[in-house]
Amino acid sequence: MPKPLLARRWLKIPLFVACLIPALLLLWKFRQDDLGANPIEFITHATGDWTLRFLAITLAVSPLRRLLKLPDLIRYRRMLGLFAFFYGTLHFLTYLWLDKFFDTSEILKDVWKRPFITAGFVGFVAMIPLAVTSTAGWIRRMGGRRWQALHRLIYLSAIAGVVHYYWLVKSDVRKPVFYGSIVLALLAERVIRNSRKARPTLAPRTLTPAG
Ligand code: HEM
Repeated sequence: MPKPLLARRWLKIPLFVACLIPALLLLWKFRQDDLGANPIEFITHATGDWTLRFLAITLAVSPLRRLLKLPDLIRYRRMLGLFAFFYGTLHFLTYLWLDKFFDTSEILKDVWKRPFITAGFVGFVAMIPLAVTSTAGWIRRMGGRRWQALHRLIYLSAIAGVVHYYWLVKSDVRKPVFYGSIVLALLAERVIRNSRKARPTLAPRTLTPAG
């Protein structure tokens, strides 16, 4: 029987390129001097948006693979999560470098005094251990259970990202509320699924692939 499309290794290449498109577009606009009146703001907003989108997409992989009965979707989750970290790093670097010129005291003051920056910072810091331990070697070293427990940090990161967004917008909260609803729905799905798994049943359990 031929391998399903999602199980083919080469599919990771077009996905990788697709995930790079927002960064390449930014680079293109930069080269064309087309980043608007405030290029730093433009880059900060674009990279912030993509960080949040990739976090939400990564969180959606597990429920979607069950809903659509596409177990091979899981093969792409790591790449999507690493792209969330990639855009998060670009976003943070834009702030550190282009906005604050690596002025440590200014940055610390901001993180301490401006709640929306504190929330963003929490979101970014929570992504670091996830990116570091994303390899098969780390799963082996930590053991599946501990690794999975650590990787629940992605919910903290996404929630902190939404709070950060909500606190920074001045009036129109529709976009942060939209992302917030997605993240909360995904979190609720996870909690309900876990509580069903934990509940002892008399009926024999059907085995599903872990994710
Ligand atoms: C999980 C981590 C993070 C996520 C998901 C995130 C997401 C976002 C989003 C969605 C926006 C608004 C984009 C728009 O208006 O279209 C934004 C703006 C911004 N973010 Fe983040 N961010 C994160 C971390 C950080 C960190 C660590 C910092 C700096 C310490 C930071 C600083 C900023 C700044 C300065 C703005 C622009 C604020 C303004 O326009 O007044 N973010 N971020």
